[in-house]
Amino acid sequence: MSELYSKHAVKYDNMIQTNIYNAMYDFPSMTALIGDVAGLDIVDLGCGSGVYAQYFLDKHAAQITCVDASPEMIDIVQSKLGAQVNTHVIDVAQGLSVLHTDSADRVVSALMIHYLADLDSLCAEVNRILKQGGQFIFSTHHPFADFECSASGNYFERELVTDTWDTVGEPVTVQFYRRSLTEITTALTNNGFVISAITEGEVLEQAKTICEKTYRYLSTHPNFLFVRAVKEKR
Ligand SMILES: C[S@@+](CC[C@H](N)C(=O)[O-])C[C@H]1O[C@@H](n2cnc3c(N)ncnc32)[C@H](O)[C@@H]1O
Repeated sequence: MSELYSKHAVKYDNMIQTNIYNAMYDFPSMTALIGDVAGLDIVDLGCGSGVYAQYFLDKHAAQITCVDASPEMIDIVQSKLGAQVNTHVIDVAQGLSVLHTDSADRVVSALMIHYLADLDSLCAEVNRILKQGGQFIFSTHHPFADFECSASGNYFERELVTDTWDTVGEPVTVQFYRRSLTEITTALTNNGFVISAITEGEVLEQAKTICEKTYRYLSTHPNFLFVRAVKEKR
């Protein structure tokens, strides 16, 4: 796990509330796919500092369960939201055994799945915990965007990429998996999901006022992928 989500968790929380990539691109694109959550039971995988959990509370979700591998992130969620949400420190690569079968209306995961080598097992577990007709909505790096970092030059080969990000105002090393669109969609359809939407999102125009160059880049290049999949069978 990158220090971005442990040592720098507090700084990360501050930055993503207003930055372009999270607040003006990922968040509006994800919430557009998530839709109405009033009265629903929601699991947030890789919840980070609870930005989405706060949104689900504001939108009157019935029950919110926040899961993250980083104890520092879960501490932030607990300090902000307390008993309004359930929290678990879990590496989701090890499974979701603490979460009950057929218990969730929505499983949401913003910008987390690219940290997992095995997407197939995650989809099987998400399918298990969702109620029939429940939805798995996630965002991840766009397969084409990450292809620029490919060492192999083989788009179809899954690769562990090492990169340096300036999200918290200083360079931090991050490792994540680059995988093809086929690998993402097959993990879903092999595990009882029907894909109901795939988008490449849209950056808000107000991003221009922060950085015209980034706004122009995100308006003209795919960077994240947004997927909504519906549980059709176990
Ligand atoms: C880019 S952050 C996104 C946080 C939050 N979803 C948001 O959009 O504000 C990715 C989060 O995934 C968590 N994460 C990474 N690998 C994980 C794993 N294997 N199991 C659970 N959480 C993980 C990190 O600790 C971090 O909080």
